[in-house]
Parts: sequence; structure tokens; C-alpha cells
Amino acid sequence: MTDGFRAVYGTAPDGVWEAPGRVNLIGEHTDYNDGLVMPLALPQTCRVEAARRDDGVLRLHSSDAHGGVIELHVDVLSPATPGTGGDRGGWAAYPAGVVWALRAAGLQVGGADLHFESSVPTGAGLSSSAALEVATAVALNGLYGLGLERHRIAGLCTRAENDFAGVPCGVMDQMASACCTAGHALYLDTRDLARRQVPLDLAAQGLRLLVVDTRVKHALGDGAYAERRSGCERAAARLGVPSLREVPYGELPSALRRLEDEALRPLVRHVVTENERVERTIRLLDAGETHSVGPVLTEGHASLRDDFRVSCSELDLVVEASNASGALGARMTGGGFGGSAIVLVRAETAESVAKAVTEAFASAGHREPRVFETVPGPGARRVTEA
Ligand code: GLA
Repeated sequence: MTDGFRAVYGTAPDGVWEAPGRVNLIGEHTDYNDGLVMPLALPQTCRVEAARRDDGVLRLHSSDAHGGVIELHVDVLSPATPGTGGDRGGWAAYPAGVVWALRAAGLQVGGADLHFESSVPTGAGLSSSAALEVATAVALNGLYGLGLERHRIAGLCTRAENDFAGVPCGVMDQMASACCTAGHALYLDTRDLARRQVPLDLAAQGLRLLVVDTRVKHALGDGAYAERRSGCERAAARLGVPSLREVPYGELPSALRRLEDEALRPLVRHVVTENERVERTIRLLDAGETHSVGPVLTEGHASLRDDFRVSCSELDLVVEASNASGALGARMTGGGFGGSAIVLVRAETAESVAKAVTEAFASAGHREPRVFETVPGPGARRVTEA
């Protein structure tokens, strides 16, 4: 890894940091509704070797991207400056956006040489961009001695993604990458960022968690995410609440009756029932009944498919084929319209379920999915000694 930086910049880095991708166990499309989520960090990370520069120059290089070193000056970084913002269209908008967000928050951040290398699959709904942002932020936090707390890092990275890269995401992915701990899922209330590390020792309970990357991404996704988000905001406004989080589960029927716009009803139903599913999941995990989380996952998938309408045939097929071959439950994870699904299985059926999914994809004429097992990994960290 140090060879990478040295080969690109001709010197040694000051340090190496890394930040993980994530899967979300349950709580989907709730984070921009002030709701509940429960992601876990993947063992796959974005690693950054970094050196401080005091001349304000920001050099960015990724071993995963073509195009060589990108050189910018921190003073000109702005979402509106051509060549530095989301209009760059590529990966560099994320680290550049983080530098911009830190400086916009009044933090004393200057230049840096950064070399990235990521093992988080890109375009698979596993938050490779959050990993890139959080890796950048923890590196700058270290290089410039900013002393930022993890939730603050996540907030600034979300700002970078929203306002610089132009992606209207919530805070879940960045919080997962910054705040998760190994062996735990992160139970997070996105309304006030209250959180709890929930032990998730699947192996001890004879269980496995599979990730199925469908390797498809439907173009529809980007605009549809923003549309769902604004639909939720409209629904909250019509119901007279600051966010859909404020609609209690017990009051869902009356809230639905009050909504005149029928198109908004399924959005509300998904968000309110999904928050309840997160609460149910936490109760099951606390009681050591992890296997019973399976049906909750499948129920969540049905809600995302039928009410929130962010699934696609490939994701639905993962869920159907998994459950038909003995999985405890499965659902899409992340924003949807392609990307990945998670499948909870008993250890002894992991292989046969994976095989059944792969075969179902072949029969349907889909590209072969990438199936791998995962365990909750650690959040962002410095890899080398300070
Ligand atoms: C994407 C966004 C997250 C979240 C999920 C859906 O991953 O980046 O903020 O909204 O979709 O739960």
C-alpha cells in the first residue's frame, strides 16, 4: 500500500487511514425522514495514504480510476466552480467535497496529497462513496489535528455529498462508515443521532449473513430517490408534522385517511412501518432471537417493493429464490433500483441458498450475481501509528 503513494507522489505518506462500506440490516429510506436505521460496516474498506501539504494544493489519485492525478487548489473548491464540483461527474467530487465541507465549517484545512485504494465494490449499493468521503475526512482530521468527533465527521461528509457532489442522500451511510464497531450493528436514530452498538455475533447463533450484489444499476434510480424524498417531505407537510418520524405507528390508519393525495399514502405507510420494523428487530436482537429477524427482513422488502417502489426484478428474485431455498429472510439493502440484497441464513444452508440464487439468475437470463458472506467490521480508523 505505501508503494502506491510513493509510486504516485515520490515520497512517503504521513499516515494511512481507512473507512468501510456498509450494508443496512433494516431501516430503509427512513434516514431522510428522521427515522431509525441499523447498518453494519463491511470488512471492505477505502484506504487512503495521505500527506499534509502547506501550499493549499490538493492532489487526488485513485488506483481504481483512470486519469492520473487530479490537482486542485483548496481556495477554489466550490460546488459552483467548474471542474471541482459534482460536474466533474467522477470520484474526485467526493474527496474534494469533503475538503470543501470542512473548510465551509470554518475548520483549518489546507492541502494534501491523497492516494486511495478501495475494496468496496462500486455501484453495488454498498456505500463506496461514503467510504471514500469518510476516509478523506478521518485522514484530514488526523493530518490537521482537527479533533472532530465521529458523528461530526459523518455530518460533514453528508454535507459534502448533498451540497458538493449533488446527491440528496441521508446521513446513514456516512454514520455507518464513521461510527460502526466490529461485531455490532449500529442502531441509529437519525433524528438526534442517538445511537447504540448492538452485538451481532451471527456465527455464535449458527447464522450467516450473505450479501448478493445483483451487479445491476437501473438508471431510473437517481431521480427516483430524490422524488421519493420530496414525496415524503410533502406528505409530512400535509400531515402537519416536521417529518414522517413524528407519525406514530398506532396512528398510521388515521394519518393515511387524512392524506387526500393517494399517491403519498404508500410512502407514508412504508416509512412508518419500517421504523416499527427497526424497533421490532432491536427487540429480537436484544432477546437473542436473531433468527426471528429473518421474516422482518422479508416483510421490509415487500414494503420497499410494493409501497415505496424502489426494488427491481433482480432484487425481488434474490429475495424469492433465497426464501424458497430455505433462507430465514432477505431484503434489498440501500437505495434500491439495483445494487445489493442481504440474506439471513442458517450456517448449514448458506451454500445451497447462494447456489439457488445464482441458478435463479441464470434461468432468468440475468448476469451472474456476486455473492459473499459478511460480518460486522470496524468503522473508520487510522491504520498506521501517528
Ligand atoms: C442510500 C442513501 C442513504 C439512505 C438509503 C436508503 O444508501 O445514501 O442515505 O437513504 O439510500 O435507506
